[in-house]
Amino acid sequence: MPRKRIAVLTSGGDSPGMNAAVRAVVRTGIYFGMDVYGINRGYTGLLEEDIFKMSLRSVSSIIGRGGTMLHSSRSAEFSTPEGVKKAAAICKARNLHGLVIIGGDGSFRGARDLVAQGVPCIGIPGTIDNDIACTEYTIGFDTAINTAVEMTDRIRDTTESHDRCSVVEVMGRKCGDIALHTAIAVGAFAVLVPEVPFDFQKDVIERMLEAKKSGKKHFIIVVAEGAGDSNKIAEAIEQETGFEARATILGHVQRGGTTTQRDRVMAGLMGYRAVLLLKNDEVGRVVAVRNGNVVDYEIDEALSMKRVFDLDMYKTACRLSI
Ligand code: F6P
Repeated sequence: MPRKRIAVLTSGGDSPGMNAAVRAVVRTGIYFGMDVYGINRGYTGLLEEDIFKMSLRSVSSIIGRGGTMLHSSRSAEFSTPEGVKKAAAICKARNLHGLVIIGGDGSFRGARDLVAQGVPCIGIPGTIDNDIACTEYTIGFDTAINTAVEMTDRIRDTTESHDRCSVVEVMGRKCGDIALHTAIAVGAFAVLVPEVPFDFQKDVIERMLEAKKSGKKHFIIVVAEGAGDSNKIAEAIEQETGFEARATILGHVQRGGTTTQRDRVMAGLMGYRAVLLLKNDEVGRVVAVRNGNVVDYEIDEALSMKRVFDLDMYKTACRLSI
């Protein structure tokens, strides 16, 4: 039997923990007697055949490092049917028995297209947003929320000193998970997320005026980037409540940094599972977390799932912030 050849790439927005996942894939593949290749810059690098053989030592000391040693990209060419066919032909010409794709939903759609062209793929959820329907957890989420909490704690210090209101914008265009978890962890006065419609006047302004009457002098409002313009929100708050308000957009600081223990462990377990699936020829699947356990789903099924926002948790956050 020829040795199995597998390759790994990271795609889309990077996330802390991608390196730990790459490491797990490489080490597990070699453990099971496979040849493991790295593909630089996601699907772009695949199309350009920027592919190199990896060894046990290629992944030394990367376990806690943010970013991705394989670099990442969003490929316009790969999003066309011709691009997918070209990528599939490259995988076949190089006798790749499997591809591990670490990324978000968009990257999984690419994996599904490759599977349809006969390339065995396994997806691992890697994005700070925690916005993939089939899984409770995406690699990078824990590091991102810990960063957001640390940054917001710092903002709170100065907010309190100046009796101000700080509007803290966190990442999440369509998903409020970073905002929700951060808001609870910092004890924010309000949290605005794209999944839940809100009445700005009633849910923010009137509540602030009410709290002012009882002596409250400083406020933290956490806003997911997809829920509104934090600068405009701060301006409106200043005008309508009389509190000086400042907006801080945390931005890409949330995408980097030393990877937390949880992200490292999840990356290790998911990377291991992905290679195990390839070893057993169970392909066209996405690794996920369900009820705290690592599981896997057929890729089409995974992509057809609808994401459910945790409304109970959101209601709890609102009740804790009175
Ligand atoms: O990785 C997800 C994400 O961080 C979103 O929360 C954010 O909107 C987006 O990526 C920004 O990505 P980029 O700067 O790479 O376009």
